[in-house]
Amino acid sequence: FKNNHLFCLKSQSEDMRNLGLSGHVGFDSLPDQLVNKSTTQGFCFNILCVGETGIGKSTLMDTLFNTKFESDPASHKEPGVRLKAQSYELQESNVRLKLTIVDTVGFGDQINKEDSYKPIVEYIDTQFEAYLQEELKIKRSLYNYHDTRIHACLYFIAPTGHSLKSLDLVTMKKLDSKVNIIPIIAKADTIAKNELHKFKSKIMSELVSNGVQIYQFPTDEETVAEINATMSVHLPFAVVGSTEEVKIGNKMAKARQYPWGVVQVENENHCDFVKLREMLIRVNMEDLREQTHTRHYELYRRCKLEEMGFKDSDPDSKPFSLQETYEAKRNEFLSELQKKEEEMRQMFVMRVKEKEAELKEAEKDLHEKFEHLKKTHQDEKKKLEDKKKDLEEEMNAFSKKKAATQLLQSQAQQAGSQQTKKDKDKKNQRTVLTVIQLLQ
Ligand code: GTP
Ligand code: MG
Repeated sequence: FKNNHLFCLKSQSEDMRNLGLSGHVGFDSLPDQLVNKSTTQGFCFNILCVGETGIGKSTLMDTLFNTKFESDPASHKEPGVRLKAQSYELQESNVRLKLTIVDTVGFGDQINKEDSYKPIVEYIDTQFEAYLQEELKIKRSLYNYHDTRIHACLYFIAPTGHSLKSLDLVTMKKLDSKVNIIPIIAKADTIAKNELHKFKSKIMSELVSNGVQIYQFPTDEETVAEINATMSVHLPFAVVGSTEEVKIGNKMAKARQYPWGVVQVENENHCDFVKLREMLIRVNMEDLREQTHTRHYELYRRCKLEEMGFKDSDPDSKPFSLQETYEAKRNEFLSELQKKEEEMRQMFVMRVKEKEAELKEAEKDLHEKFEHLKKTHQDEKKKLEDKKKDLEEEMNAFSKKKAATQLLQSQAQQAGSQQTKKDKDKKNQRTVLTVIQLLQ
């Protein structure tokens, strides 16, 4: 009855009234219900380790989670940067944690490091895209979805004592809107105490001047505000990793042993390992998960949906439903398609016309050539006919001359042997007359 009564009061008035309850209702168990539900469901946490080969990524992960994850040392001969993800099921008390550790293999090993950040950005985006696709499905199963989105990116800075490398700045700048970056100084046992302080402030000022947004420990919640505020001062955490147990006093502790002494991983005077563990796992793990979902994934989702043409409101700031967006997009696509089709058709007609004109021109050329050839052929023929006629005339004249000469020769032979001189003369006269006739 009380539940119904409360419900009525709420729905009747817009501004809610505070009411005291006269007895126990039971909704104060809601947080417990949430805890129980989350505990049975288990948690996902994904860490991305970005850092040069051999900087101590695997050792730090082993030290952080107090276990030995499988990892092979990378060679320095990788042609490019590659990301390797490995998932593990961890259990502490009755809380199950599905932990994924993503390692950058070959980072910082190439001569040209211009594109080193790309595979990392791509990996992060791919995980966001997979989540978005699941969200957009009609049958979603986000409840038991294995979330692979990166919740924290540990950026390993080389303990140079100088400043950040340009590769570090470029990579962090490219990642800062996509992931919660926690910068850490690796192998901090190699830097002297007085240098470390300067190195830390140099790094922080460089990050600020280059506009790199690192993860801010939340200070809005009372319970964690103080610890987070004090811890922020120590950023970037200078860490030392080791899984080796060394006897210190009468206790065993994780440490690195050197000829001159021992560096204790969990000793806050030696390094910031404990601070990192506190911030990353004990205090802010849930905030890191939340920030990933509400800030980074939200940004990715918004950009992606806008890219796809979805809008929340039309140009007059009126709400725009998904259906309307879909229809508007569809119409836009169809008109675009029609425009393209028309363009192609016109292009085709133009090309046909061009080809036709080209063919006509070629035909005209051919015709002219043919006419020219015909004319030269006729001229040649006429010349040859004239020559033939001349030759025939010459041949006729020659045959006549030949016949006359033969006649003269035969008469001359006869006259020499039988006839008198008179006869000869007469005969000669006649012959001459005949020759003259023949020649005429
Ligand atoms: P890859 O996976 O091959 O890229 O290397 P990694 O970054 O995982 O480095 P790994 O943890 O394999 O460590 C490389 C070497 O550095 C090992 O010899 C470690 O013992 C040493 N090392 C790891 N952490 C520290 C540290 O905090 N200080 C010092 N001085 N050495 C360390
Ligand atoms: Mg490794």
